[in-house]
Amino acid sequence: MKKILALLLVLVMVVALCGTSAFAKGVPNDQKPVIWFNRQPSNSMTGELDMDALTWNDNTYYVGFDAKQGAELQGQMVVDYLQAHGEGLDRNGDGVIGYVLCIGDVGHNDSIARTRGARMALGTAVPDPQQGKTEIKTIDDVDSAQIGTNIDGKATDVQDGKITIDGKDYVVRELASKEMKNNSGATWDAPTAGDAINTWSAAFGDQIDVVVSNNDGMGMAVFNAWSKEQGVPTFGYDANSDAVAAIEDGYCGTISQNADVQAYLTLRTLRNAIDGVDIMTGISIPDAAGNVLSDDLFYYDDATRCFYALNGAVTADNYKDFLDATAPNAAFNKQLDEKDFPVVKVWLNLYNAADNFLNATYLPQLQNYDKCLNLDVEYVKGDGQTEANIIDRLGNPDAYEGFCINMVKTDNGTSYMAKLA
Ligand code: BGC
Repeated sequence: MKKILALLLVLVMVVALCGTSAFAKGVPNDQKPVIWFNRQPSNSMTGELDMDALTWNDNTYYVGFDAKQGAELQGQMVVDYLQAHGEGLDRNGDGVIGYVLCIGDVGHNDSIARTRGARMALGTAVPDPQQGKTEIKTIDDVDSAQIGTNIDGKATDVQDGKITIDGKDYVVRELASKEMKNNSGATWDAPTAGDAINTWSAAFGDQIDVVVSNNDGMGMAVFNAWSKEQGVPTFGYDANSDAVAAIEDGYCGTISQNADVQAYLTLRTLRNAIDGVDIMTGISIPDAAGNVLSDDLFYYDDATRCFYALNGAVTADNYKDFLDATAPNAAFNKQLDEKDFPVVKVWLNLYNAADNFLNATYLPQLQNYDKCLNLDVEYVKGDGQTEANIIDRLGNPDAYEGFCINMVKTDNGTSYMAKLA
């Protein structure tokens, strides 16, 4: 009898415990996984990483790509092209290779890096006075300010460079550069770049020999509005499908930031953190379905909890391999078994419904992998101007097991953390 009573007691305790744990199942929002992506939490003036946002809880990570490696690659791609196509490059024969530069967002680390990369490669870089630099030791030391126009070569945020092509010396001059921000405040704005090239070409068109753009959205706007017809070499960044296709029509090159790798990492790290498994599952450690990333595609910095995809140049030599920027990668698009990894509901935002790269390339890639990872993703698109427009639509964070966040401004991590606190 005693034994039966003891057994009953144990049973009662087990039921009570189960009840308690079922009740306590909801993880507090501030402990749910947060994956920052594409806009790295950082000070938009100095570039210093925002470690509070990056280490918000044990399940917080950033997914992006190596902005400096990509920027150096873009600069090199432009110089390689100039070296290989000397004849007719200096359109008005004044001995100056003039270029214009479309800047995406003066406070965005990707944009800053690309401006610096172009100036470094073309010899127009000067040390950044904002950071108190007096010499350039690395790309980080380069002044990335927009200069307006610089027809006479007197601007102080750049200098005239020099390049020797086929044994002939040319001056290289940044004739103009401008942040492409529209009247409502949205940056990386392609129509603004189309307007800018119309203004610039009307004022000093025959001096423009090259166009460099911080991304393909703006680069293609310039190409379609002006440089395609003029035959002026134009370079962008992102390897969006339309830009890669335009290489056939004379667009000179772009950089792939491997959006497939980044989109997968964004959702994969979220899935792993929700499941409480090793964060490298399906990344450097093959998962049960056989998904794995080869280590030449990305690296991880544990100290800052950042994953970075690597970049590759896309030019006339190899563009045929990049024509579909939205194609899933067979190395990591295998479906997880739903019995072991049941569907979970998560939330993800894009900072701007009009951003070319994020909507045309990144989102279709996310949608390739969300299904494979059994994630039911609520996709929210912002207006590109205010965090509130996005955060207000995260009405009930309790409904989601994790969050992927693409900020409007890289300094605004606190607004999202406040919402989840
Ligand atoms: C892309 C841009 C895009 C920006 C959005 C960058 O990495 O290259 O095209 O506008 O991200 O944050």
